[in-house]
Amino acid sequence: MRFLQKSRIFVKTDPANCSNTIIIIGLPQLVIVKECFFVMNQLYCDIRNYIKENLSKERQKHSIEVSKLAKLLCKMYDIDSEKGLLVGIAHDIAREFQKNKLEIYAKKDGKPLSPWEKKNPVLLHGRAGAEYLKERWNIADAGILDAIRYHTCGRPGMSLLGKILFVADYLEPGRRFLEEKERQKILKTGIDRMVLYVFNKKFLYEKKKGRKILKPSLLLYQELVDKTEGK
Ligand SMILES: [Fe+2]
Ligand SMILES: [Fe+2]
Repeated sequence: MRFLQKSRIFVKTDPANCSNTIIIIGLPQLVIVKECFFVMNQLYCDIRNYIKENLSKERQKHSIEVSKLAKLLCKMYDIDSEKGLLVGIAHDIAREFQKNKLEIYAKKDGKPLSPWEKKNPVLLHGRAGAEYLKERWNIADAGILDAIRYHTCGRPGMSLLGKILFVADYLEPGRRFLEEKERQKILKTGIDRMVLYVFNKKFLYEKKKGRKILKPSLLLYQELVDKTEGK
């Protein structure tokens, strides 16, 4: 149940079935709030349907779990939880694109492909996904697009929504490498410490695989170490 205090609208949403129930207590002048909610919810359902038809079962499940956790974290940090739901469901929209399609869409942001991206085109799915969402669903919200664009490696100065998506992508309950007890513990440590936790796990994995850590990840990591140690 979601309560929009000023508008006095109760919204009960079921993301799994793309359904909602709205109870309005007076105040017809606040119809705009209701419309905004419907636009966002409709977008969520359209993207969810696309994912159902175009992505593997495993990735569909992952995307739904990420959207639920991102929504929860948005509520914890008092930002628009519908945005959390949306970035979660859409973040891996380009994850199963072929190399050629990944490169075509990623380059639409006007930036060249780095040598590392050329060597590992899967890293482009954030950039390509943001451009695909812009083109296919006319999404123009820079906060939503950037969260998706940078969800694979992060970047310095990452927004709160971006951090939430980054963390939810790794900590959603379907991830088998994490014990539920540990997951719950990490989710209570604060967003910056959660990001650092995810990076530590990812860096260890990359090291084992003999792969280098990308510069944007290192810069964000250092930024958050300085921030959390300075507290
Ligand atoms: Fe991803
Ligand atoms: Fe993901």
